[in-house]
Amino acid sequence: MISIKVRMFNRKASSAKSQSEAIVRTLSLQPGQHIADIGSGGGYFSLLFASLVGREGKVYAVDTNRDFLKFLKIDSEKKGFYNIETVLAEQDVFPVRDKYLDMAFLRNVYHHLPDRVNYFRNLSECLKKGARIAIIDYDGRGGLSFHRLFGHYVPKKTIVKEMEDAGYRLLEDHTMFAEQSFLIFSPCK
Ligand SMILES: C[S@@+](CC[C@H](N)C(=O)[O-])C[C@H]1O[C@@H](n2cnc3c(N)ncnc32)[C@H](O)[C@@H]1O
Repeated sequence: MISIKVRMFNRKASSAKSQSEAIVRTLSLQPGQHIADIGSGGGYFSLLFASLVGREGKVYAVDTNRDFLKFLKIDSEKKGFYNIETVLAEQDVFPVRDKYLDMAFLRNVYHHLPDRVNYFRNLSECLKKGARIAIIDYDGRGGLSFHRLFGHYVPKKTIVKEMEDAGYRLLEDHTMFAEQSFLIFSPCK
């Protein structure tokens, strides 16, 4: 069951519709950077990030599902990546204790977080100067879909307002997806 789910996450993440190459280009990650992939799922993006930040860099794959993390640990080591640390999270706490994060990335995860303003307020303690938060999520466009039916979306305006309340400002608003927003924030302080 677990492996069916993670493979499904990875199949979707790697599909043409997901535009993972364009996402990664937009993020322009550099060797040596520290990245948190929050809600890493099957780890498709964690692995892409790990190859870009290299041996000197680090990727924290953060998820609330222990089995997804176990799968990613085995998969990443099999593929020769030793710069991914899997981190088990509580639903409402960012668990990484690194003060030098360059980026936190959330794809289709933001809508799962219960108290987002508090979550991102706390997360700011772990960010390096100039760090960014990249959020991709369904925004409610696109007719009747699974995401709309089950409330798995957050309107763009709501994300911007909540992130401002948490102490961030909007840096970039990418409009390449038909049903998702892709926003990049940085801390105001
Ligand atoms: C729809 S999947 C997206 C997976 C991955 N980001 C991708 O793009 O393929 C959502 C993931 O977020 C995880 N998740 C849900 N709530 C979370 C939380 N509060 N903190 C961290 N991960 C969470 C789920 O376990 C799941 O792996």
